[in-house]
Amino acid sequence: MSEVTDKIRDIVLDKCEQHKQNAKYGYYDYWNDHIKRVVWHAVDLANQYGADAEIVELGALLHDISMPAEYGERSEHHIYSTEMAETLLAALNYPGDKAERVKKCVFNHPGRNQHLRETIEETCVSDADALAHFDRIPSLFSLVYGVLGMGLKEGRENVKNRLQGDYRGLSDRTKKKVREKFEMILEALFVD
Ligand SMILES: [Fe+2]
Repeated sequence: MSEVTDKIRDIVLDKCEQHKQNAKYGYYDYWNDHIKRVVWHAVDLANQYGADAEIVELGALLHDISMPAEYGERSEHHIYSTEMAETLLAALNYPGDKAERVKKCVFNHPGRNQHLRETIEETCVSDADALAHFDRIPSLFSLVYGVLGMGLKEGRENVKNRLQGDYRGLSDRTKKKVREKFEMILEALFVD
């Protein structure tokens, strides 16, 4: 792990710690309930797929940073997070060519930018984002019922749709790895 990775982790942890104090977002523990698991899966996939683990780890750490930092529109968080990633990496004198690769992981992690992904590092980060949701299903329910105030049926459908969307957005090889687990989750939680 590089020195820059350590420093970026500290910055992300600090933003998450501050965000956790905010009632507006249900005191959401962004680090433990999401980022930590994204980083774990991203590095795991990088090792399995032969991707550059440093680029992938930085991309995973920074992919959502504008949200706990409460900077910019949440719906455009990939844009604001890319902007923050650029500033933070430049301040740490991270080489420009590597910073560009990290920024692409951040910018292209949402499903809507799937068609823009070109590298295995980008795939590792976006796949890891979805896999982290499968690890933290209670957080998804907390979001729809506690933070967004949805009713029982609406919240249930919303979580189901989110998980199905996450699965659809996975790369084919990651889909294959987690298909069984995903099917078990759907079967256990959403009996018709
Ligand atoms: Fe994320």
